[in-house]
Amino acid sequence: MIAADRDEEKRAAAEAAVAEIEAGMLVGLGTGTTAAFAIAAVGARVKTGLNIRAVATSLATARAAEAAGITVIAMDDHASVDLCIDGVDEIDSLFRAIKGGGGAMVREKIVATAAARNIAIADSSKLVDRIGARPVPIEILPLARAFIAEHVSVLGGKSELRRNENGLFQSDQGNPVLDCRFGPIADPPALSAVLDALPGVVGHGLFLTEIDALFIGTPEGVRKMR
Ligand code: 5RP
Repeated sequence: MIAADRDEEKRAAAEAAVAEIEAGMLVGLGTGTTAAFAIAAVGARVKTGLNIRAVATSLATARAAEAAGITVIAMDDHASVDLCIDGVDEIDSLFRAIKGGGGAMVREKIVATAAARNIAIADSSKLVDRIGARPVPIEILPLARAFIAEHVSVLGGKSELRRNENGLFQSDQGNPVLDCRFGPIADPPALSAVLDALPGVVGHGLFLTEIDALFIGTPEGVRKMR
């Protein structure tokens, strides 16, 4: 698929999800290139009079949303969100996803879990039979790096510290991220439970129960699942 077609699918999925926002809602805004189309679409609706407030799943999203004219408030004071719209790296037909390509999975999971409805938006390449071709990102406390890498290895995964152009990648919380390749994951809930129980894991990118609906852009239009 060429990049322009993929972008068109992302944009269409994002706009379909943004159409579900109603006046007065507190909206969770995701992170990444697909979520960026949603932020632009929310900004356009705000400019024509939609009155909403938003919480951001990353510092980058907060900046982009404010630049689009959206009122962004801190999640700190809110136990619930009306609607969350966010991208995924991979997702299966049971809405079990890998997220965190942008390293924002810790905040994304808080907002997604707090949301009354959480819509995943994606281009058609993201829908897979079985998740695991993409790495599962794990945000860790620095002192637990070798300890967690060893456990990942025992679980059959291969971990690599994420880097970017500035050197070691740091999450919005200031922590490193281990990208862990497991290959096709036979039992995502079992893997998620083991990772959740490991001391030093701040959070990981397996989203198995948080997603309520999936809007996929396709060449034929947006396919809305659930
Ligand atoms: C960021 C995420 C993103 O939603 C995910 O990586 C998808 O990104 P994109 O829409 O750019 O493909 O989880 O942490």
